[in-house]
Amino acid sequence: AASSRVEALITRMTLAEKAGQLSCFNDEVRPVGAVFNPVVDPRGRDAMLADIRAGRVGMLFNGYGVAGARVAQAAALQSRLRIPLAFAADVLHGCRTIFPIPLAEAAAFDPDLSRRAARAVARETTAGGIHWTFAPMVDVARDQRWGRVAEGAGEDVLLNRVLAAARVEGFQGPDLTRPDALLATPKHFVGYGAVRGGMEYAAVDMSMAELRETFVPPFAAAFAAGAGATMASFTDFGGVPVSANRPLLTDLLRGELGFDGVCVSDYDADRELIAHGIAADEADAARLAILAGIDMSMQSGLFVRHLPALVTSGRVPVAAVDQAVRRVLTLKERLGLFDDPFRSIDARAERRETGSVAIRRTAREVATRSIVLLRNDRDLLPLPRTGRRIALIGPFGADRANLNGPWSFAGDATDGIDIAQGVRAMLADPQALSVEAGCGIVDPLPGGIERAVAAARAADVVLLAIGEGADMSGEGNSRTAIVVPPVQQALAEVVAATGRPVVVLLRHGRALALDGAVRDAPALLATWFLGEQTGPAIADILFGVVEPTGRLPVSFPMASGQQPWSYDRRSTGRPAPDSDPMAAGRSHWRDAPDRALYPFGSGMGYTRFALSELRLPAMVAAGAAVPVSVAVRNIGARTGTALVRVDLHDRVASRSRPVRQMKAFARVTLAPGAETRVALEIAGDALALVASDGTWRIEPGAFDCWVNAGDDAEIAGAFEVR
Ligand code: IFM
Repeated sequence: AASSRVEALITRMTLAEKAGQLSCFNDEVRPVGAVFNPVVDPRGRDAMLADIRAGRVGMLFNGYGVAGARVAQAAALQSRLRIPLAFAADVLHGCRTIFPIPLAEAAAFDPDLSRRAARAVARETTAGGIHWTFAPMVDVARDQRWGRVAEGAGEDVLLNRVLAAARVEGFQGPDLTRPDALLATPKHFVGYGAVRGGMEYAAVDMSMAELRETFVPPFAAAFAAGAGATMASFTDFGGVPVSANRPLLTDLLRGELGFDGVCVSDYDADRELIAHGIAADEADAARLAILAGIDMSMQSGLFVRHLPALVTSGRVPVAAVDQAVRRVLTLKERLGLFDDPFRSIDARAERRETGSVAIRRTAREVATRSIVLLRNDRDLLPLPRTGRRIALIGPFGADRANLNGPWSFAGDATDGIDIAQGVRAMLADPQALSVEAGCGIVDPLPGGIERAVAAARAADVVLLAIGEGADMSGEGNSRTAIVVPPVQQALAEVVAATGRPVVVLLRHGRALALDGAVRDAPALLATWFLGEQTGPAIADILFGVVEPTGRLPVSFPMASGQQPWSYDRRSTGRPAPDSDPMAAGRSHWRDAPDRALYPFGSGMGYTRFALSELRLPAMVAAGAAVPVSVAVRNIGARTGTALVRVDLHDRVASRSRPVRQMKAFARVTLAPGAETRVALEIAGDALALVASDGTWRIEPGAFDCWVNAGDDAEIAGAFEVR
């Protein structure tokens, strides 16, 4: 129920003022510089301030800075009912200080780290006059062609759930009224990650059982953690765009999931109902959106222009409008804006928090923890800090323009530290490093190949910094071939042909299909877009100052054509045996097995682990938690951290189950030779499935269980549910 203050306001509001509260616009009072969305209906600063004074704006987004926020908020307080504005922004992985992309951070498999990172980001963001972030993105993503894979936590349901909750808790903090609390918006509700062919904005169609089992759980976790808002997906679902889809936005979101916060549309998405072929005109689009369950219209202005007439003509009940207004005003009240409209608008806090030593330290920690070591033949890594001539080759070696990746909000590329700077700072003799680009990201450089080959020949070891440019993933950047761009692949081949040992430092916003000299390099690090601390983080790992502990949150396929693919796919009726993945008549492609090159969870450190003595009950009651424990031993020569995970397979069920799916994970750090018993618990409801009648249910029977701590450390068991 809303407060008496909110109810009293609603009774005083005109229809036009109600429609204003339900409308948000790109902030032209304090623009950030970068244009994140296509320019739609710009109005200019003065016209925007006039609209705010007239009560036609409820929230501004993607503006930055305290001085401008003060001007805009003062204008809102001159409106008839003095209802304050909320300020939102797409802060996905940092505001000014850019952290690793969320996909990279997910590689840490560490909810505490994600919570701390989100808290640090929230402090800096709110100090810049922002109350609300359009994050975290919690879309499960199993098709690496889709560019927005970069913004989420990858392909696994449990990892998405756990990190969704952690990020919401981190952003919002313990008390939403505090000036450093940043309201979270898990997005995009729901199913966006399953766009057909991985193509941005394409149609989505799937069974409700798959939607509930795979795509809904991260939202449920984020709501349970207290998220105050959500954003509807741009896409259609089964032919009905989500922005007009009442079964999803009302029955599922409100009814089944019990969400009572604000549901904001995506950018211009209500007007896009016309292009979808669902609405006849703008008024029709506004009607469909509000009746489906959109509370706030983004950028199109459709609600301001059409809701009053839709209500007076009886096409939209006033109760539907009042309900949306109630949610928006309640959100502002939860943020403390009625009591202090100038919360988070404090120039001293802005100076103190922006780019502080503390936030940069956290960004470096997260960057280091995001890196995944995928290959390390004959212990090429870590490198010694003296006595080696190193050639850093590739377009990303000495380059600050591509450190941050997509949605790096108010980040300034010149704040970042590139790989060359990071490595040089680590070397006793900085002259031991030579740097050659070799080629551009997609174009050759005159003489580049010759200079790169000469640099490689003159070195003892090559660091090859190649991959995707910052604009190759993220929104609107789907790719059909998820490969290293051909010009860089050619560079990798000639460098490998010199015979020098090559360490590939891969830059990417998604999993890539690796080929030739890149795939076969003796050492390979997945380094994503690590943000401003890229150089120091990579250097820490290369020289063994920090142990690599990241694990892949997305499977690296053998070929682009395998997409979509996830490690927890269902079995076909003719699965290929492990011993012969290309067996005739069994499921595979003509040119690739039904396997990943590096499946979800891959990654190693500079040591190895062995597992023994798996303990789990033989029989468990349906609904009870399942305790699993295993002895983990560090059998290498260095201290290291193991990711211990438990995967299950339900052998016989009324609907075919994943071949295996992660149900619990934990991290443990051990000194060389040390052993410990790691105890994990599989939640009782983790054994449930969505039955064909749409309800969650635990079916009795046998479950296969694998405990894994790396490629060569796995131990299997089974238990029965009765
Ligand atoms: O929040 C984003 C969304 O993820 C994609 N479209 C634009 C929105 C606002 O910038």
